[in-house]
Amino acid sequence: MTDQTALIPNPVAQAADRTNARKVFIKTYGCQMNVYDSVRMGDALASEGYVTTDTAEDADLVLLNTCHIREKAADKVYSALGRLRDMKKERNAEGRELMIGVTGCVAQAEGEEILRRSSAVDVVIGPQTYHRLPQALKRARQGERVVDTDYAVEDKFEHLPVPDKKVIRSRGVTSFLTVQEGCDKFCTFCVVPYTRGSEVSRPLAQILDEANKLVDAGVREITLLGQNVNAWHGTGLDGSSWGLGDLLYRLAEIPGLARLRYTTSHPRDMDDRLIEAHRDLRALMPYLHLPVQAGSDRVLKAMNRRHTAEEYVRLIERIRAARPDIALSGDFIVGFPGETDAEFEDTLKLVETVRYAQSFSFKYSTRPGTPGAELGSQVAEEVKAERLERLQALLLKQQHEFAESCVGKVIDILLEKPGRMPEQLIGRSPWLQSVNVDAKSSQIGDIISVRIVGTGPNSLFAERIER
Ligand code: 5AD
Ligand code: SF4
Repeated sequence: MTDQTALIPNPVAQAADRTNARKVFIKTYGCQMNVYDSVRMGDALASEGYVTTDTAEDADLVLLNTCHIREKAADKVYSALGRLRDMKKERNAEGRELMIGVTGCVAQAEGEEILRRSSAVDVVIGPQTYHRLPQALKRARQGERVVDTDYAVEDKFEHLPVPDKKVIRSRGVTSFLTVQEGCDKFCTFCVVPYTRGSEVSRPLAQILDEANKLVDAGVREITLLGQNVNAWHGTGLDGSSWGLGDLLYRLAEIPGLARLRYTTSHPRDMDDRLIEAHRDLRALMPYLHLPVQAGSDRVLKAMNRRHTAEEYVRLIERIRAARPDIALSGDFIVGFPGETDAEFEDTLKLVETVRYAQSFSFKYSTRPGTPGAELGSQVAEEVKAERLERLQALLLKQQHEFAESCVGKVIDILLEKPGRMPEQLIGRSPWLQSVNVDAKSSQIGDIISVRIVGTGPNSLFAERIER
């Protein structure tokens, strides 16, 4: 999954005006799956009378929904806990409550250790058990320090309340929907199979029910989420075995659901049906996040990616043949143990061949417990930094070239939120770019035709056209 929280406003922060209600502030770190989980935890707490707030200062309960993917991500949690400990002391001195919970992947990976390292923490809840948060808080209020990081036998989704239409609508016209969790791929650098457990697909009926409720409430675009979303499988309406492609065909039939996306995918699970869905479904946006991580076959093998660079490039060719306007996005790691200069050059070559519209690239970060951490030959920090700089320069150039190639095109955008200027709205292009447009008489949720007239650092500018 990809860290895009910088792009996503805190979705659980809705104006909290019920003065006597308890208030919760949920801080989300990491990937979109955590963003979705934060929303659902907010829902679970709402049914206990909590309202959400967007500052810790205003909250009676602070939850840090954490990410463990790289060392830096995990470190952020402990520095935030240091600040919260001081805040809690001040509060307690005034005779007021401040409860602190750690949820998500650091909670799963470190469990009890968090209580040892931070005296301020009241509850530690893993990603599989957040439906039990209300009970854990009750126990904590009686003085217990609770750690619940089991892989729950019950299905958390069955136990989570779905909010009413007004609440869903207040969150906007786009929504995430988790369809799959966990990962069985065991890439040798990655903690996900340990923190999120093995692959589990949500049943079709549950997904359709949630999608229908979202659309009924006014959602126009749904992004299906999973650590390995294209490994989703289930039993179809006809009793046969379905994959993600089949699911997308079915979801595309929901009236009013204009746009579908999914993330994150593994190259090994891009099957023919999914590629056909890109060819056939107008609702399926022409954008694909398909991480490759590295361009050298030796490194790919050491990472246990289970495909070669050539196989990845062939796969991209097939996807582009099915949907020529598809924009590609990728994740990359530089400085995997043993990566030589020549092997790094192979990553640059692969990037030149594929041409990415968007990307996320990282220095390899040693994660305790993963096979990568056991390898000798760790690459020096300065070498990683220098490689990352070169890779990012190339990827950024490609991103700008892609944006420039959009100028002059007439496209449909989904209007998502107000812009900075009066009468300006911000929409989303099929390729996930933000588009600024003057759109008098249009409303958020409308899909309008625009001509792209220019590019900014992180967005496009457009003028409205009638067609
Ligand atoms: N070090 C650096 N990057 C990592 N990622 C996953 N694990 C690590 C690690 N140990 C990156 C991968 C993945 C993205 C979500 O995070 O590129 O696709
Ligand atoms: Fe991690 Fe690899 Fe699974 Fe992605 S496919 S979550 S990188 S183990």
